[in-house]
Amino acid sequence: MIIKSNVDSTSEQFKKNHKFHARQVNELNEIVEKLAKGGGEKAFEKEHQKGKLTARERIKLLVDEDTDFLELSSLAAYETYKEYVPSAGIICGVGQVENQLCMVIANDQTVKGGTYFPLTVKKHLRAQEIAEKNRLPCVYLVDSGGAFLPKQDEVFPDRDHFGRIFFNQAKMSSKSIPQISSVHGLCTAGGAYIPAMSDQTVIVEKTGSIFLAGPPLVKAATGEIITSEELGGAKVHTSISGVSDHIAVNDEHALATLRDIIRYLGQKEKSPVKLQMPKDPLYPMDEVLGILPEEQSKSFDVREIIARLCDGSEFLEFKKNYGSTLVTGYAHIKGIPVGIVANNGVLFSESALKGTHFITSCCQENIPILFLQNITGFMVGKKYEHEGIAKHGAKLVHAVANANVPKVTLIIGGSFGAGNYGMCGRAFDPNYLFTWPNARISVMGGPQASQVLVTVKKDQLARKGEKLTNEEIKKIEESIKRKYEKEGHAYYASARLWDDGIIDPRQTRKILGQAFASTLHYPWSKTHFGVLRM
Ligand code: COA
Repeated sequence: MIIKSNVDSTSEQFKKNHKFHARQVNELNEIVEKLAKGGGEKAFEKEHQKGKLTARERIKLLVDEDTDFLELSSLAAYETYKEYVPSAGIICGVGQVENQLCMVIANDQTVKGGTYFPLTVKKHLRAQEIAEKNRLPCVYLVDSGGAFLPKQDEVFPDRDHFGRIFFNQAKMSSKSIPQISSVHGLCTAGGAYIPAMSDQTVIVEKTGSIFLAGPPLVKAATGEIITSEELGGAKVHTSISGVSDHIAVNDEHALATLRDIIRYLGQKEKSPVKLQMPKDPLYPMDEVLGILPEEQSKSFDVREIIARLCDGSEFLEFKKNYGSTLVTGYAHIKGIPVGIVANNGVLFSESALKGTHFITSCCQENIPILFLQNITGFMVGKKYEHEGIAKHGAKLVHAVANANVPKVTLIIGGSFGAGNYGMCGRAFDPNYLFTWPNARISVMGGPQASQVLVTVKKDQLARKGEKLTNEEIKKIEESIKRKYEKEGHAYYASARLWDDGIIDPRQTRKILGQAFASTLHYPWSKTHFGVLRM
């Protein structure tokens, strides 16, 4: 049951792979470090001079000492707008507060006044979605000027725009998922509704204020001249309006008050998941960098990755010799049982059937599922179509969609075509979806897409009796390949919130442990599968 690794970490190939991937990981870490500086040192200083803390300093004081904050989507909005909007101006993640895992959502005031760009809204909504799915109390550290006004058409009117934040708060509150906020800065309009919609709200004296329209707008609308403090400061809201429940003398005090509020929250339902004492794997996580080939098209045994993720490198493999391009089996990660579904080659009918069988058994036993995606797609060709690969793949897709257990997807290589769907891609609502920096996601590979498009063009011209020159073919091929390379990159995907973050592969075990731990209070109930085509 213990996976025996065949990796030779002294081989030239291993060293070459390791060097290649370490370079990518270092680049990622440098970007993440830069993004964590938000609007920059000067902007941080400005906040400190006002007696305020920065968003990250607040989070540090909020979460329990010596615990790790699982930050999500730090690359959100990376190189997407003409303005510099690091991490989309909002920090979201799962943190432990008074021994309770919470979703923390903190505006970064140093990024355009903490205003909401379209991807800020998307990131906030995704954090709420994760909280709702995993029944995590939400803590909002509010310091925001509301909508980024030049982009109002992309943040205000639609279903998944700003209004959805408040809708989610109301819905979560009704499901007994606590909504708690503290107001640290001037919160106008949309920014004001977050505390107003919360179950309990703390507000900081002098720096915190809540109003639907700030003093300039009030003056313009009614001629009334008033200061921020008089209009919607801490004293007003805790003694006159009742919009806020607790007054704090400064940010530190507000965060201590939030911790007190969380300490008094009620008990959660017991999780049905059977935990065991965690055990370290037998092999170092760092070796994954040497296991992953430099070229994505080269194969490797996914069990080598599993061996470095699981407690004691123990893996009870299910149907090992059947449908062997999909590896399935039971393991523990940081003491939490998981069913693992991992690609080890292209998907055949047998692999899809095996995956379906395995997923149904995880659902019966309340076992969360980890999907390790590295997939070019389902097998194509006459033999496979005739044996009904489409209907077998559909069974896997049915099982993945309806499995009522927590699901975490990690893309460790390619994620192409229908393989992305069958392996619980974003559209299949995994509780979390992470990627490695080497991950590539697109409907198909660039070379394949360019060949398809060249063929389509050739056929079109042939009908008119015309032909493409070699030069024209090359031009089409190059431009499509370049486009796919850019759009398939992990940074491009993460910037657009197609995942919950690119992670350092060496941190994978720790992060998966945190992610699965946050799913334990998931609303478990029996899975109902739909009609499976036989
Ligand atoms: N839309 C677009 N940009 C905004 C903005 C908004 N709602 N609010 C602030 N900004 C921008 C500012 O133009 C400035 O950009 P710059 O750095 O490129 O010059 C940056 O955010 C910081 O704003 P600034 O006013 O210098 O910072 P501050 O700390 O003194 O105040 C706010 C921050 C958010 C409190 C203040 O700017 C404000 O009240 N904004 C208007 C809020 C509002 O009316 N929102 C309505 C939303 S429906």
